[in-house]
Amino acid sequence: MKVVTLRSPGGLECLDVSERDAPGEPGPGEIRVRLHASSLNFHDYAVVAGMMPTEDGRIPMSDGAGVIEAVGKGVDEFKVGDAVVSCFFPYWQDGPARVGDFTTTPGDGIDGYAREQVVRPATWFTHAPKGYSHAEAATLTTAGLTAWRALVVDGQLKAGDTVLALGTGGVSIFALQMAKMMGARVIATSSSDEKIERLKELGADHTLNYKREPEWGKRVQELTDGRGVDHVIEVGGPGTLPQSIDAVRIGGHISLIGVLTGRGGEIPTAKLMAKQARLKGLIVGSRTHQQEMIRGLEAGGLRPVIDRSFALDEIADAFRHEESGRHFGKICLEF
Ligand SMILES: NC(=O)c1ccc[n+]([C@@H]2O[C@H](COP(=O)([O-])OP(=O)(O)OC[C@H]3O[C@@H](n4cnc5c(N)ncnc54)[C@H](OP(=O)(O)O)[C@@H]3O)[C@@H](O)[C@H]2O)c1
Repeated sequence: MKVVTLRSPGGLECLDVSERDAPGEPGPGEIRVRLHASSLNFHDYAVVAGMMPTEDGRIPMSDGAGVIEAVGKGVDEFKVGDAVVSCFFPYWQDGPARVGDFTTTPGDGIDGYAREQVVRPATWFTHAPKGYSHAEAATLTTAGLTAWRALVVDGQLKAGDTVLALGTGGVSIFALQMAKMMGARVIATSSSDEKIERLKELGADHTLNYKREPEWGKRVQELTDGRGVDHVIEVGGPGTLPQSIDAVRIGGHISLIGVLTGRGGEIPTAKLMAKQARLKGLIVGSRTHQQEMIRGLEAGGLRPVIDRSFALDEIADAFRHEESGRHFGKICLEF
């Protein structure tokens, strides 16, 4: 089988594609999956680019989707031929968050899914949504579940709420689609007017160019008649948080998801206090959250937005495409 590994110290030139023996039969409680797709996240980029150092020879990629080839004894949740998708936190099955790092995350602390086959415990995967391609399913492990956790699990989103989604990356486009699917209004932002046209096509109620309108928090207040938004999908971190605090309503909810603008900075804490807003950090979600999300996506008919797919051997090109920032939604690997 084909496998991708990352040489230390990391960097796109340190990604190697090679052949390895196929894994054997699954043991009790395990499944063997023929993987057919993965999807790229900023986190995967940070690992392969060497920004988040990992073990020499690590198999990258947290997201994996494919078909079950064999099931071990005692597995009754799945059968051969089922389409499945991997879990970001294989050891966080249910209940409140209990993992605060990436030591157990495939593609970072442990080997991931840039490979054609894998044997893993059945509980490390869930069923994929019915009718999804493998590439579509692969987008759910990280980006899809993060948006779902922010809006539905932590945010308790209701029809009629207003959501502010920053930028047009994987998480934010999912947030836009899920919010619309559930009857919310969406204000979406981008640095590109071309991408703004696509945000409108996806149903964004209002859009703004955050480069041209650096004081976009005020603009969001105007767009909501001075009320502010109920939820912010905060992927920027310190560079965007002051504007997000301006944009949120009194008592609203900011999901702190990403740090695209840096890891630390000046935050207007007094304003956050006066807003009485909830600033909630999160990392992806549990296996149960993933199963609930998939039920929701099937019912709502949501299909992920895939910008472009690359072959497994083209993994470095796929990351170069992500690096360029030209993408809208998800970039996938299909194999
Ligand atoms: N906490 C978690 O569980 C979790 C899970 C997934 C991702 N994340 C984090 O969330 C962030 C986004 O991840 P992703 O995978 O969606 O990334 P991505 O697909 O690479 O998206 C990046 C997009 O973010 C937008 N952006 C960049 N700088 C921005 C800024 N200053 N203000 C507003 N938007 C900006 C850009 O949109 P335009 O081109 O339209 O301007 C860019 O295309 C990353 O920091 C990632 O690590 C966290």
